Amino acid sequence: MSHLTDQHGHSTYLIELSNVNKTYNGSTDQVALSDITLKIPAGQFTAIMGASGSGKSTLLNLIAGLDRPTKGEVWVDGIRVNALGEAALARYRRKRLGFVFQFFNLLNQLSVLDNILLPAQLAGLQSKVAHQRARQLLDQLGITDKARVYPGQLSGGQRQRVAIARALINQPSVLLADEPTGALDSRSGDAVMELLAQINEKGQTIVLVTHDARLAAAYATRIISLRDGRIVDDSILQAPQHQAPSDLLHLHSEEAV
Ligand SMILES: Nc1ncnc2c1ncn2[C@@H]1O[C@H](COP(=O)(O)OP(=O)(O)O)[C@@H](O)[C@H]1O
Ligand SMILES: [Mg+2]
Repeated sequence: MSHLTDQHGHSTYLIELSNVNKTYNGSTDQVALSDITLKIPAGQFTAIMGASGSGKSTLLNLIAGLDRPTKGEVWVDGIRVNALGEAALARYRRKRLGFVFQFFNLLNQLSVLDNILLPAQLAGLQSKVAHQRARQLLDQLGITDKARVYPGQLSGGQRQRVAIARALINQPSVLLADEPTGALDSRSGDAVMELLAQINEKGQTIVLVTHDARLAAAYATRIISLRDGRIVDDSILQAPQHQAPSDLLHLHSEEAV
């Protein structure tokens, strides 16, 4: 087995895929991923790039335990995800992962605060702790004044901030985001990416799918490019090209109106 471990038997990487293949069986078999070997240490902000159909979402879904590899192993946070049963998978997703989607997936009949609290309630977190965390996240994401409103009253950028807060409330090992800026105008998209970069700087591991090369280059710390289900490029970016803080403050305050 190629899985690397330290002296305590723990993986030296937070995420490790070894020789992963994913084929969808149909009238014609569709190879979505082909021999993917990938190691991601804690703390990276990885962007997965590639054209439509290149396998980005499949890769994210395998890490998320939403899908199983046809062949190979997926390890996350010391857990062999591909070997888990359904109950253990549900627990894994609830406790270790946060999800952000293109179309936010907020519950429109719940307030912003209740949307953010929901995963904490499902995980059985003490209410007082959950409320403290929610308040802190609302503050960090610049939406404190929106706690009592409903998602329908928010802009796209604001909805995505709520979704990010919801994804972080259980303090996940990994934040997974599939095209989180795909439904946003470019200014809101930049603001969301800047927030993700700030969250990453505090130590949060993030794996994000995007087809936007500019956003990936500006905010991620690593870019993995897929073509036809294979990794064709893997670059660590030493110094992400962040915008000046003053610009960002301006951007945030404008966007939050
Ligand atoms: N559930 C599925 N059944 C059959 N084929 C699928 C399924 N999901 C994805 N595919 C195929 O696998 C390939 C990769 O898809 P996907 O990971 O969604 O790509 P991307 O997110 O990069 O657009 C595509 O050719 C797609 O048609
Ligand atoms: Mg996709």
